[in-house]
Amino acid sequence: MTKLTYYTATTLDGFLADPDDSLAWLLRQQIDDDGPFNYGQFIAGIGAIVMGSTTYEWVLRNDPEPWSYTVPAWVLTSRVLDIPEGADVRLASGDVRTVYSRMVEAAGGRDLWVVGGGNLAGQFADAGLLDEIIVSIAPVTLGSGKPLLPRRLDLRLAETSRNRAFVCARYQVLGRLREDR
Ligand SMILES: NC(=O)c1ccc[n+]([C@@H]2O[C@H](COP(=O)([O-])OP(=O)(O)OC[C@H]3O[C@@H](n4cnc5c(N)ncnc54)[C@H](OP(=O)(O)O)[C@@H]3O)[C@@H](O)[C@H]2O)c1
Repeated sequence: MTKLTYYTATTLDGFLADPDDSLAWLLRQQIDDDGPFNYGQFIAGIGAIVMGSTTYEWVLRNDPEPWSYTVPAWVLTSRVLDIPEGADVRLASGDVRTVYSRMVEAAGGRDLWVVGGGNLAGQFADAGLLDEIIVSIAPVTLGSGKPLLPRRLDLRLAETSRNRAFVCARYQVLGRLREDR
């Protein structure tokens, strides 16, 4: 069964990025690339990815390579965005259930990754399609910024570990917060 995971770093107070989309606070943190919950191990099991346009434009502006992902990528946007030469990037808009079906087809039995942002992960959760959340919590608070997951959900803590500066945790998504059902 294909699994959809929201794998991300966050501040302790639940922000993905500064209000102006800076990740300077994250990129200076100590991390062991071979340690618990490392990116290499995670991405090896992924067959398709999805992100919102703010995240996409951040990657295009900041990644040293023009496009480093080797699996098909969907970018949610209401605009027409440039795609780097040779990159397998597919622009989409509207209902994430359609995107999900196409991702499952493209992933060839491997799992799916919601790169971000938080509202996009929330759209998948609203549709009952988000299976798990893996967070690496940086030792930082920002007070404001782009929220990790602006939804009311019940989760089950499935696994925890430490990777240098980060507390890492994996949660299974149970569904809407019990108090709201
Ligand atoms: N800490 C980390 O590890 C981490 C991970 C991921 C991202 N980030 C950062 O966190 C920030 C996330 O930004 P963000 O939360 O603003 O969001 P985002 O999800 O990257 O982008 C939001 C935009 O995507 C488009 N969009 C989303 N859903 C759509 C839909 N269903 N149909 C059509 N378009 C849709 C809309 O823009 P348009 O229609 O105008 O294009 C929307 O404003 C970025 O700075 C990113 O670099 C950090």
